[in-house]
Amino acid sequence: MSADSPRSQSCTCIAPINIAVIKYWGKSDEDQIIPLNDSISLTLNTDYMYTKTTATISTELTKDSIILNNEEASGDGVRFQNCLSEIRKLAASSKHASTVEKSKLKVAIVSQNNFPTKAGLASSASGYACLVFTLAQLFELESHKSELSALARRGSGSACRSLFGGFVQWFHESQPCVARPIAEAQHWPQLRCLVAVVSNTSKAVGSTEGMSRSVKTSKLLEYRIKHVVRDRVEEMKMAILQKDFVKFAELTMQDSNQFHAICLDTYPPLFYMNSTSQAIIQLVHRYNEIRQNIKVAYTFDAGPNAVLFMEEAELNRFASVFHSFFGSIPHESFFRGKVLDPVDSTKDVEALGPDNALKGQVQYTIVCHVGQGPKNIDPTG
Ligand code: DP6
Repeated sequence: MSADSPRSQSCTCIAPINIAVIKYWGKSDEDQIIPLNDSISLTLNTDYMYTKTTATISTELTKDSIILNNEEASGDGVRFQNCLSEIRKLAASSKHASTVEKSKLKVAIVSQNNFPTKAGLASSASGYACLVFTLAQLFELESHKSELSALARRGSGSACRSLFGGFVQWFHESQPCVARPIAEAQHWPQLRCLVAVVSNTSKAVGSTEGMSRSVKTSKLLEYRIKHVVRDRVEEMKMAILQKDFVKFAELTMQDSNQFHAICLDTYPPLFYMNSTSQAIIQLVHRYNEIRQNIKVAYTFDAGPNAVLFMEEAELNRFASVFHSFFGSIPHESFFRGKVLDPVDSTKDVEALGPDNALKGQVQYTIVCHVGQGPKNIDPTG
């Protein structure tokens, strides 16, 4: 933390995004953001995608303010105010007089996503995790890890998982309702992920509105909660702990498909995937067929972008195939975040059956691995 003057202090942190492999979809309490089921996610490394937030407290400030991606946002937003008032409450109950004093000051927040939000990459998880983590650093509350997860949850449900690195489970019945790590980032070092940014023009219904509609209308969601997701969470946890890629991949794809089936079962229906997303799903299944094993898995959130998982040994081969089908820019610009070695994919493409109509339907992809939770990037932090 840097002290600009005794009466003004600021702190800058970054926080990662996370991708759910067992999805959170549906709340039992919309105000408190309590989910209907446990979910499991992987936190992605912050080399290419992260939210960066600077929080300043000062006696000079007369109101709370927030600037998001260079635009003044409403500091009156309910979720922003919920996070802020909960963290102030926590600070006000501290045994440290300095923390109590700080809790009384107004804050100025400046937050930036370094990835294109317009590309439909989820930003609320890293955004709220970063907000809460940065304020906690400023108020010296960093040891309250569990409470911080509950606070981030009040901003956006999935944000409570972004406070931790590695493989994370969000428990719907825990008190308070929080996420906790299942395994750390280094647990499965071979795991890789490609985030495929799919061209998209339509404006989708946001997650909050979408899941509320599903809770009210989808019988399939009811079925999932009663009969599917509990066992699936346990199986997924096991697959992760045993680094069993085939099981992990199967469960990931099945859970993504069930989530999107619920979206179709919602009335009026929610269309998050588009024809490119469906073509990616088909390619992954055909690729696994020609490889005679499950080598790649897909998952999709509330948008058409695909997140593809595979192990390191498969990365260059699958990436080259994927580029042959969907890329219209050179290999080296199509893959960002890490340089990949192009592989001659002619034989694989022939076996899969080429389809020129798909060219250019993925703008670019980001190569990631499982990474750490938020961190303070102040030189003195
Ligand atoms: C499909 O966390 O964005 O990405 O709690 O209403 O802010 P709110 O929703 P949000 O929902 C994320 C839904 C999802 C699945 C997931 O991340 O588990």
